[in-house]
Amino acid sequence: MGRLAEKVVFLTGGGGVLGRASAGLFAREGARVAVVDTLKDKAEETAQGIIASGGDAIALCTDVTDEAAVRAAVEATVQHWGHLDTIFNNAGVMPHQDESVLTLDVELMARIYAINVTGTALCCKYAIPHIKRTGGGAIVNMSSFLAVVGCIKPQDAYGASKGAIVALTHSLAVQFGRDGIRVNALCPGPIETEHVRHFFADEAARKLRLDHIPLGRFGRPEDVAELALFLASDAAGWLTGQAIVLDGGVSCNYFSVL
Ligand SMILES: NC(=O)c1ccc[n+]([C@@H]2O[C@H](COP(=O)([O-])OP(=O)(O)OC[C@H]3O[C@@H](n4cnc5c(N)ncnc54)[C@H](O)[C@@H]3O)[C@@H](O)[C@H]2O)c1
Repeated sequence: MGRLAEKVVFLTGGGGVLGRASAGLFAREGARVAVVDTLKDKAEETAQGIIASGGDAIALCTDVTDEAAVRAAVEATVQHWGHLDTIFNNAGVMPHQDESVLTLDVELMARIYAINVTGTALCCKYAIPHIKRTGGGAIVNMSSFLAVVGCIKPQDAYGASKGAIVALTHSLAVQFGRDGIRVNALCPGPIETEHVRHFFADEAARKLRLDHIPLGRFGRPEDVAELALFLASDAAGWLTGQAIVLDGGVSCNYFSVL
C-alpha cells in the first residue's frame, strides 16, 4: 500500500518542475492526481507520464486566478473520482524582474500576488467543502524560505506573497482542524531549477551561495516532493499550521565566511 493509496489530490502548477516531481511521487504512492496548470501541454505531459507508469491522473488546463475556472476544475476532479482528499497549492511565479521595493512595479506585484496568494486562496475556497465531505484531508501550500529570511539580492514582491501564504496557512489550520483538515506550508530554499540557474548564472555567485548552504548543495525537486508527500500523507497526522523550511540549513546559518 502506498502512502497516498486511494487519495485524490488536486495539484496546481503540475506542469512545472516541482509540481511534476511531486505529482509523479504522489502517483507512485497510490494517489490519483488532478494535474492543474495554465500550460495545457505541460499538464498533459505530467498526467501522461503518470498514466504511462501505471498511475491514475487527469490534466486540467486552469488558471488559478480565474475563480469560475478553479471552481470548475475542483468540480471536475470530484466528478471524476467521487471525492477529494488533498490540495497541493504549488502553482506560483517568481519573475526575474522582481527585485527591491525601491524599483517596485505595482502591476508585477499585483500579478505575483494574484497567482501566488489569491490562487492559493481560491483553490482552498472550492476544495475545502469537498475535503470536509470526505471527512478530512490535507492542504499543502507552497511558500518559500523567503517568507522567513531576507536576502541581500531581494525578490520583495515574491517574498511578501510567500509570507502571505504562511499567514493563510495558519488561519486555515485553525479554522478547519476540527474538520480533520491539516494545513501546512512548505518553504523551500533554492532548488536546482531554471529559476535558480538564472539567479546564479555567474559562477562566483553560485559558489558564494553554495558556500552558505550547510549541506553544500542546492535542493533537488525530489527533496521537495518527498516533504510534500509526507505533509499530504497520514504519517503527518498530528502536524498542522506549520511552515516547514527545507533549505539545506541556509536559514539557520548566521555567517559562513571566517
Ligand atoms: N524553484 C525553486 O527554487 C523554488 C523555491 C521555493 C519555492 N518555489 C515555489 O515552488 C513552486 C513551483 O516552482 P517551480 O520551480 O516548479 O516553477 P515552475 O515555473 O517550473 O512551475 C510553476 C508552474 O505553475 C504554473 N502556473 C503559473 N501560473 C499559473 C496559474 N495562474 N494557474 C495555474 N498554474 C500556473 C506554471 O505554468 C508552471 O508550470 C512555486 O510556487 C515557486 O514559487 C520554488
